[in-house]
Amino acid sequence: MSTQAYYTLGRSGLRVSRLSLGTMTFGTEWGWGADKAAAQRLFDAYLDAGGNFIDTADVYTGGTSEQWLGDFVAARKARDQVVLATKFTFNLDPLANPNAGGNGRKNILRAVEDSLKRLGTDYIDLYYLHTWDMITQPEEVMRTLDDLVRAGKIRHIGLSDVPAWYAARAQTLAEWRGWEPVTALQLQYSLAERNLEHEYSQLATGLGMGITAWSPLASGLLSGKYRSDGSGAGRLEAMRDSPNPVFRKFTERNWAIVAELEKVANEIDQSMAAVALNWVANRPGVGSVIVGATSPEQLNGNLRALDFTIPAELLARLNAASAPETPFPYYFFDSSMQGMMYGGATVGDKPAGYTSPVLVSGSGAGVS
Ligand SMILES: NC(=O)c1ccc[n+]([C@@H]2O[C@H](COP(=O)([O-])OP(=O)(O)OC[C@H]3O[C@@H](n4cnc5c(N)ncnc54)[C@H](OP(=O)(O)O)[C@@H]3O)[C@@H](O)[C@H]2O)c1
Repeated sequence: MSTQAYYTLGRSGLRVSRLSLGTMTFGTEWGWGADKAAAQRLFDAYLDAGGNFIDTADVYTGGTSEQWLGDFVAARKARDQVVLATKFTFNLDPLANPNAGGNGRKNILRAVEDSLKRLGTDYIDLYYLHTWDMITQPEEVMRTLDDLVRAGKIRHIGLSDVPAWYAARAQTLAEWRGWEPVTALQLQYSLAERNLEHEYSQLATGLGMGITAWSPLASGLLSGKYRSDGSGAGRLEAMRDSPNPVFRKFTERNWAIVAELEKVANEIDQSMAAVALNWVANRPGVGSVIVGATSPEQLNGNLRALDFTIPAELLARLNAASAPETPFPYYFFDSSMQGMMYGGATVGDKPAGYTSPVLVSGSGAGVS
């Protein structure tokens, strides 16, 4: 990894590695992942490479991920050095208690204490709402998280897997009420999943939230190890029959993206995984890419993803092969529609160096 490459996340002063370590693979409870010895090797390899940003969630492997992460951080006496991110929303209570999940105040205040215990720490650097519960108002969530910042239990606030309008409202409330703002937006982003570009790239850069990109290899698809003839072993094969759409990656569209990625990777003599990670890391608004691995070999290769530049012509080919469809209303925002508003001038006609007064950079400048 480019060990000195840190970004400041969102508009905060928090410096995070551009490649963070995902720990959803810590534990084998979900039918894939790494045992404790392998997980410790992943953790050590990441820190040895200079990384400081680690992502987990209370729900990952039923709490094992947080627990092991806490053990590994303690073993290396690394608490001060690492930026620990975790999440609440999902319900781990076997007693079907509706308030032991979701985004209401009662659950947030319960969840944070449980995470602190499992992680063996007295503060969390970045605390995410994991996903929208379709019930709790942003006022309740943001006020509760602001209280936690003031109480010293968390340092920064993040939102994961929420509608763009929800994140925009949460951020605007925080700005106008003097609450701690949202620093990070965690979303699925890869060459195989670019739908966030319709809303979230501008949301993040405009409102000062760094995107932290999950499943940047589309759960392993973009490593190139799966083939359309059905060969290839790993998480996607293990989860082939899962109803979860996250694991439904074996589609004609995705095979075409994999084919173009393979050609591009061969032309610059890089692994497909490294090229796919490099592509995400350099997209607008992306503060950090959350790298997942089940072996140190995978991880060490992936951590070299920022050591090269993808030439512009090859980047254009990757962009074209992976371009998402543009649904309504977004096709109204392309240059031909804009031209109809401005008498033939398009939004692309801004003078060189022009910066929109609304869209200021949110993912932060690189600090080296
Ligand atoms: N907020 C959310 O809702 C959300 C959701 C999902 C994930 N996340 C976060 O994002 C992190 C990363 O997600 P992810 O694990 O899905 O990322 P990913 O990069 O899309 O997939 C990682 C998996 O791909 C395979 N792989 C990785 N590198 C490889 C290589 N070089 N060669 C061959 N196979 C390789 C490994 O699985 P196998 O060895 O099993 O094939 C690895 O576990 C998670 O740990 C978690 O922290 C967040």
